[in-house]
Amino acid sequence: MATTFIESKEEQVSSSQLVPEISNIPKHVAVIMDGNGRWATQRHLPRMAGHERGVAALRRAVEASVQLGIQALTVFAFSSENWRRPEDEVSFLMTLFLRALKSEVKDLHKNQIKLRVIGDLSGLSTRLRKAVEEAEEKTALNTRMVLTVAVNYGGRWDILNAMNKALVASPHLRELKAPVTEDDIRPHLSLANLPEPDLFIRTGGEQRMSNFMLWQLAYTELYFTDLLWPDFDYECLEAAVHSYQMRERRFGRTSGQLAMHADSVPGHAGLV
Ligand code: IPE
Ligand code: IPE
Ligand code: MG
Repeated sequence: MATTFIESKEEQVSSSQLVPEISNIPKHVAVIMDGNGRWATQRHLPRMAGHERGVAALRRAVEASVQLGIQALTVFAFSSENWRRPEDEVSFLMTLFLRALKSEVKDLHKNQIKLRVIGDLSGLSTRLRKAVEEAEEKTALNTRMVLTVAVNYGGRWDILNAMNKALVASPHLRELKAPVTEDDIRPHLSLANLPEPDLFIRTGGEQRMSNFMLWQLAYTELYFTDLLWPDFDYECLEAAVHSYQMRERRFGRTSGQLAMHADSVPGHAGLV
């Protein structure tokens, strides 16, 4: 199977310095899977039932992404703020995560999907960390699509974590000999191996970022839907991609500039 950008470092793009290659199908889609609790409450079920159905919805989202030719799917499963939830819900979510990891990894691997987990894993149980490690190791060489699951993740944590790693890696930063640049920080961010998301989807009706990928979403096209996550399906993803295809991604330039350089698509590379 052809190697995708997943393995390539060259296609990394900056939020502000380079214009990324734009394709008709978003290469990287980021999703806030929201609305599990409300889905369950509407059915007079415990919130946990909504989370369980959320796992099935994630399976559908992965399948639909593969079908549409999306190369990277990043989903928000548990935020650094979700620890504020009732203890029984937090512990249910952790157990569900462990269970899903164990049950899904075989199918992911069979379908050539690489699994990655991002976030502050030091906050997770040893058992969970071990399962994450095993799943990542098993699927590490797969190239059809990369599925990244954000657990105990926060966008501010990601930036601070990258900053701290950069300080350790680069003595010149510690000595304050030169100003800190994007290039110092970017390689240490959680998703440094992927291009920034082209399309962001949030289900559940809320229109906020909830501390998700604050750095990486700087120029991502945003799509919000009232559909609750357990109801997510191929049609919903298709509708989001369709909306994405209607957008004009200008990255700071004018429509006139884009029209002038339309010949140089894909990615309006002539303007890079
Ligand atoms: C998203 O659904 C799942 C997690 C945050 C773990 P919610 O549990 O937030 O569902 P609502 O927003 O309460 O409906
Ligand atoms: C965001 O959803 C986090 C996840 C989907 C994992 P929340 O439901 O926690 O977001 P807020 O609290 O409503 O902003
Ligand atoms: Mg919610």
